[in-house]
Amino acid sequence: MDIDRKLLILYGSQTGTAEDVADKVYREAKRRHFSARVTALDSYDISNLIQEKLVIFVCSTSGQGDPPDNMKMFWRFILRKNLPVNSLSQMSYAMLGLGDSAYQKFNFVAKKLYKRLQQLGAGSLLPVALADDQHDLGPDAVIYPWLDSLWKKVLNIYPLPPGREIISSSIRPPSRYTTTFIDKTASHPDLDNYRIGNHSQAAPSQSNPFYAKMTSNERVTAYDHFQDVRLIRFDISNSNISYSPGDVVVIMPQNSPETVTEFINHMKLKDDNFFHIQQQDLDIGLPHTLPQPCSVQYLVQNYLDINSVPRRSFFELLSFFADNELEKEKLEEFCTAEGQEELYTYCNRVRRSILEVLQDFPHTSANIPFEYLFDLIPILQPRSFSIASSQKMYPDEIHVLMAVVKYKTKMFKPRLGVCSTWLAGISPGTIVPLWVKKGTIAFPTDTACPVVMVGPGTGCAPFRSFIQERTVAGIGGNTLYFGCRNKDKDYYCKDEWTTLVNKGLLNLMTAFSRDQDDKIYVQHKILESKLMLWNILESGGWFYVAGNAKRMPDDVKDAVKQVIMDCGSKSEDEAEQYIHKLEQCRRYQAETWS
Ligand code: 2AM
Repeated sequence: MDIDRKLLILYGSQTGTAEDVADKVYREAKRRHFSARVTALDSYDISNLIQEKLVIFVCSTSGQGDPPDNMKMFWRFILRKNLPVNSLSQMSYAMLGLGDSAYQKFNFVAKKLYKRLQQLGAGSLLPVALADDQHDLGPDAVIYPWLDSLWKKVLNIYPLPPGREIISSSIRPPSRYTTTFIDKTASHPDLDNYRIGNHSQAAPSQSNPFYAKMTSNERVTAYDHFQDVRLIRFDISNSNISYSPGDVVVIMPQNSPETVTEFINHMKLKDDNFFHIQQQDLDIGLPHTLPQPCSVQYLVQNYLDINSVPRRSFFELLSFFADNELEKEKLEEFCTAEGQEELYTYCNRVRRSILEVLQDFPHTSANIPFEYLFDLIPILQPRSFSIASSQKMYPDEIHVLMAVVKYKTKMFKPRLGVCSTWLAGISPGTIVPLWVKKGTIAFPTDTACPVVMVGPGTGCAPFRSFIQERTVAGIGGNTLYFGCRNKDKDYYCKDEWTTLVNKGLLNLMTAFSRDQDDKIYVQHKILESKLMLWNILESGGWFYVAGNAKRMPDDVKDAVKQVIMDCGSKSEDEAEQYIHKLEQCRRYQAETWS
């Protein structure tokens, strides 16, 4: 390996996609004989950055334009105003952004970081590339052509060492780890008793979760309603967790017992076998969340994301294990440029899972060495939920209001969300690993500020937290617009809201979309009560909207604009300016999720 041919790949990844792409860049760099390293931005020692000559960044942007959690420290550092100009003048870099153009701040992080590095004197190899989830063929439509241009450019500057060729992509790459099965019977710590009531002083985090006991799991929609929504309570006593309204609880889920068994059987593994895992490539650390030794059952249940839709890199690696003609042909076709449309139709359109793909390729599955499961299958990711309770009202509890994700595609079996299905299916008493992080919504601390909240469906979760926080102290000035389908089926928290209305602490507007022929939505209720809303805004009120309906936040904003035009006698431009000003001082905030 040429000592001057060092290449660093830094990623910021929330759901694992950017990490997967970064891994791919790493493998391609190795095939081109680079001394390559790949790491999350926040795991990288930033003081070394001024010495780096060649860096590839892969960064995703979340819906609200925020950087992923594993690059938040780097983000704060690099945007500091006092960094010397030209401090990165020895660096050449390329930037790939992953985002979703359905959101306003499309690829905000990659764009901003790209410019910032330029300001600091780094030399850009290529224009910033912006992959888009909304593209017909998904983000790959941008990623693959970008990789081609990247290697052309990089090899121009750092040609291959004399006598070396690019290692063919038809040679199977080595696995990241090696594994050895042990024959003696082993065991894990008993997680159910682990750390309960005995947490260390540090606030819980991903690497140090709190094992909370679920204390109730209540279905809050009628049993004949299409959607199962749960109000779940966790006991967090002695956890050192403190949270405020707007914060988010992050939960580490498990795969469902059925899929775990299906996977273990299909791969002809034994659930009670234990194995040790060792590093194979010194540039890549061991998976720190796995116990050593680890059982196959634990690995599949807690670590391998067998329910996720496989990425293209999965098929690229899988094809190395194919010896059956038919399967090999199909897998290789999926990896060509011409096969992309078909791959997208086969996987993404119907949300086919890794487990289902492996079942479709039984001969190939049978050839996968155990240690390659770590290269093929991404890591199960934690899921975030808006906290629906106030710690002032429930000092030792966290509540989550969550819709169980279940939908049909052309696949025979319905698609199920991993975390919500797992949570809905477990009984009170079960232990759930969790921690808390700051949310993007911030509520006013001034108790005199009137607040308007628009939260159809589970969008009302963060508002339940804030309303509890204020009303437990007898603070009024709270207006909630709540929307659901039917008064009798999914009007959850009704009793709580009604009690507060009766006490004069809550002003409640409800929109039942399907109790009559024409749809009635929260935005219709906003227009109906326009003078009240206008008066609240004019008296310094704060406005919030949260939910998961795709078009809802824009529809609500249009309604608010109309209110401002009608009641404030303003033109459309002026009304937009008015909202823009509110947004700038954070008196208009939106939080959406899918
Ligand atoms: P619907 O399902 O009858 O269309 C919570 O999901 C509530 O939000 C439901 O009553 C749902 O109505 C409604 N909803 C769906 N799309 C919306 C939109 N664009 N604006 C406001 N509410 C919407």
